[in-house]
Amino acid sequence: MPLVSAKEMLTRAKAGKYAVGQFNINNLEWTKSILLTAEELKSPVILGVSEGAGKYMCGFKTVADMVKAMIEELKITVPVALHLDHGSYEGCYKCIDAGFSSIMFDGSHYPIEENVAKTTELVKVCAEKGLSLEAEVGAIGGEEDGVVGMGECADPDECKMIADLGVTMLAAGIGNIHGKYPANWKGLSFETLAAVQEKTGEMPLVLHGGTGIPADMIRKAISLGVAKINVNTECQLAFAAATRQYIEAGKDLEGKGFDPRKLLAPGCEAIKATVKEKMELFGSVGKA
Ligand code: 13P
Repeated sequence: MPLVSAKEMLTRAKAGKYAVGQFNINNLEWTKSILLTAEELKSPVILGVSEGAGKYMCGFKTVADMVKAMIEELKITVPVALHLDHGSYEGCYKCIDAGFSSIMFDGSHYPIEENVAKTTELVKVCAEKGLSLEAEVGAIGGEEDGVVGMGECADPDECKMIADLGVTMLAAGIGNIHGKYPANWKGLSFETLAAVQEKTGEMPLVLHGGTGIPADMIRKAISLGVAKINVNTECQLAFAAATRQYIEAGKDLEGKGFDPRKLLAPGCEAIKATVKEKMELFGSVGKA
């Protein structure tokens, strides 16, 4: 199946009260592990690519061509969207040209008028090309230079203003942050989420910073309109821990254990297990 926009899978998820996972990719192993798990579980999936990861993988065109070829070679039948994560205005156009099927324009750091103007323009471009578009209101915190910023809570009226522009899905800050949550994290603001959902109706809402959010909070967020959940750090932690274990056990020193196909295998299995756990929690298994 060729890449698809995220629109249909998210509309169905919102109506069916489950969420589709966006799992960020970093390289071939990540991509393969996520695609195989989605296929095995018959789950729709969104592959997220940050601008940094795109640069690391030799540009968005390399990424898009790799993903498309892999879908064909692995005979993946479930719907797969290839999505730019937290795109800049320029990054969005690069991904549209490279063949992505979905983009996120993160205009949350612009004044709301500028966010509206740029999002309006991208809504038009994406509609012409059949791509889905995610917008963000209320910055999502996270670690920057060792300082963990708490997540903002979006203004529900601003959310409505952006949703009404015709975006496909909307990321609203509800106290969520990227990376590990600090011990003094207050949890998600369900009050904000309910208010955003009330104002935006059918719009699939996106929860960023999926790593480390307790299962009961995830379930509650889905019940309040979240239809897409982003996970990145958790796969990285799982990959790193499994690789560390392999090396600490001296397995790279046994026989051909240094062969990257062997060395990276435990990490790949750990990514698969993490993705499986998340798909089960999000309720997307069997929904492809
Ligand atoms: P985590 O790294 O916290 O899982 O967040 C991922 C994310 O929201 C990507 O946009």
